[in-house]
Amino acid sequence: MALVKPGILFQKAYQEGYALGAFNVFNLESVQAVLRAAQMERSAVIVQVSMGARKYVGDLDIFLRLLKMMAEPLEVPVCIHHDHCTDFEICKQSIDAGFSSIMIDGSKLTFKENIRLVRKVADYAHEKGVWVEAELGSLPGFEDDFFSEDNQYTNPDDVGEFVRESTCDSLAVAVGTSHGGVKADQDLKIDMERLQKISNNLPGFPLVLHGGASITSSYIDTINHYGGKVEYMKNVPEPLIRETVKLGVCKVNMDVDNFNAYTAAIRRYMTENPAIYDPRKYTAVGRDAFMNEVRHKMSEVILSSGRYKASDYAKDLGKSIRTVDHD
Ligand code: G3H
Ligand code: ZN
Repeated sequence: MALVKPGILFQKAYQEGYALGAFNVFNLESVQAVLRAAQMERSAVIVQVSMGARKYVGDLDIFLRLLKMMAEPLEVPVCIHHDHCTDFEICKQSIDAGFSSIMIDGSKLTFKENIRLVRKVADYAHEKGVWVEAELGSLPGFEDDFFSEDNQYTNPDDVGEFVRESTCDSLAVAVGTSHGGVKADQDLKIDMERLQKISNNLPGFPLVLHGGASITSSYIDTINHYGGKVEYMKNVPEPLIRETVKLGVCKVNMDVDNFNAYTAAIRRYMTENPAIYDPRKYTAVGRDAFMNEVRHKMSEVILSSGRYKASDYAKDLGKSIRTVDHD
């Protein structure tokens, strides 16, 4: 059951008013954390691989095979997605490797260049039944090691033309969140009016929110209490992320809170158990903290917990919420 085509997941999320959590994974423990959380929460999930994870794991084919093998026995539906592909070649490699969904990030390009790139990727992807997420507008913050201050909100007047011309299947929008947070005195806000207009201009079309981690300060408190020096960053708080789910957002990318939970738990464990040298002891603690954070996002933020019903997937297999069906 577990591996399903993304169209079905998006259709369910859109119709039933919740979002799919999309979580980046990079090692065995992070995969276990996300998949176990999904299984425990009876939630669909999107497991993502970033460009940074791709470098970290070394062999993408082997990692993808591992992901599929670990996801397949689960009861809940799982989609495996390549996050933030930087160019056509990376998209092509990812599609050929067997991802069922990819994001082409043309957010730094001009409007027309972005459309051209997404269209080229979509033509290739759709031939192979692969879902394409595009981005219009750009977020400030970190992408892997690169920091950008560039913050360009998505213009609601542009989204109809962009989706029509690019033929993307879902669209990431910039409405106030940031990647990895920014240095600021106050929490960031979502421009709900802008998001509502975008949603009105794309009825029935799934939107995506990147930068969905709220950078919960209690994790940074713990990390720093146990010897860390992590900077406090601000992002959009969880109640506001939850609001976006009512406005057409069907997928929320959230990583930093998971990473902070993982690091905080390991730092604490190692400080409190200085005699331990067996890495299985502390990585298990980190993995469980990561898993609990994913469970929290599913149950309290994106509201995907308990939404999985086997019968939905049996009867809807092969359908998509787009009028042009790429499944
Ligand atoms: O693509 C990845 C996400 O946008 C990460 O969001 O920086 O809030 O964890 P985050
Ligand atoms: Zn992102």
